Amino acid sequence: MDITYKPQVSASAPGKVIIFGEHFVVYNSEAIIAAINRRCFGRAEFTGNLGVWIASGVDTKSNPYTIEHAAVRGEPSNKKLLEPLSTFCRHIIREYALDVGLKIYIKSELPIGVGLGSSAASCVMLSGILRSIIRLNHGEEISSTDRKWIYENALYGEQMIHNKSSGVDCYVSTYGGLVHFVGFTETTSIKSQPLPFFLINTRRSHETSELVSHVRRFSRNSSKRFEELTSDATAICSNGVKEMANGSLEEIGRLMTENHKLLREIGVSTKEIEKIIGICSRCGSLGAKITGAGGGGSVLVLARPETISAINGALKGLDLCLEAIKIEDRGLTLD
Ligand code: PMV
Repeated sequence: MDITYKPQVSASAPGKVIIFGEHFVVYNSEAIIAAINRRCFGRAEFTGNLGVWIASGVDTKSNPYTIEHAAVRGEPSNKKLLEPLSTFCRHIIREYALDVGLKIYIKSELPIGVGLGSSAASCVMLSGILRSIIRLNHGEEISSTDRKWIYENALYGEQMIHNKSSGVDCYVSTYGGLVHFVGFTETTSIKSQPLPFFLINTRRSHETSELVSHVRRFSRNSSKRFEELTSDATAICSNGVKEMANGSLEEIGRLMTENHKLLREIGVSTKEIEKIIGICSRCGSLGAKITGAGGGGSVLVLARPETISAINGALKGLDLCLEAIKIEDRGLTLD
């Protein structure tokens, strides 16, 4: 395909938190998911040689370093993570018969494997870069057709990494904001007041597919109970939509804690997560729960400013702390 080369193309896409409904959404229940103000950034340069070369400042210990540093070091752990991303880019380049070679630098604020949607954000960002190369002129607005293309192709890329990805992460990363899902396909944007959310990264990475399989076994072995829990999860999400629009912090926090009890019962919590949630609750948080698949990963906390230092003080013993996050309206952006 003939394209006009720009000197370089840059894009960024946000990570996400699941506020309500993880796991149950797999069974067509509801979920509320928000893009967050932590992004994955990428910059592509054209090279004379065909092929795709990716260097990344992402590492597995939630300790991002600079892209230049990573490119020089060529970390082996990064190679394993980056291979599916290059395969995804090569696939699109082949499909659109693009006569380009790309050097792509990635820098991410999203730690890997802790439920914050880092792989989805990388795929959305790369998909945005590729769409820009294929179709967009410099400075041109991203149309709804472009965004749909970017989402669908990012989802294809993410499914190369996480076999059975639901697509909710890619959707939220592409479009941004706070989204109410019914199952994986029906989506509505929610408007909410700024909410005082915090993350606690346990630094224990999880394998989403294993946890989803664990829940599948639970749903088969205890089908009656699972049905009841799914209907509780649906009610929590429906109430969550109303309360997020009303901005009632107490009620949102209470619903988060209720949601966590369901996740604990289906077996995706851990002793450490229970300890963390106990600390948050004793120190006055409004609510706390797993966000994402569980089994480690991150804990999402809603807390008023006057309780933060007490919570942080008590978390010190576990070498953990709260990190403030905001809901991010911007999805994929291109520069
Ligand atoms: O931890 P994450 O970001 O992979 O989130 C998984 C969310 C699940 O509901 C458990 C699975 C899914 O595909 O929706």
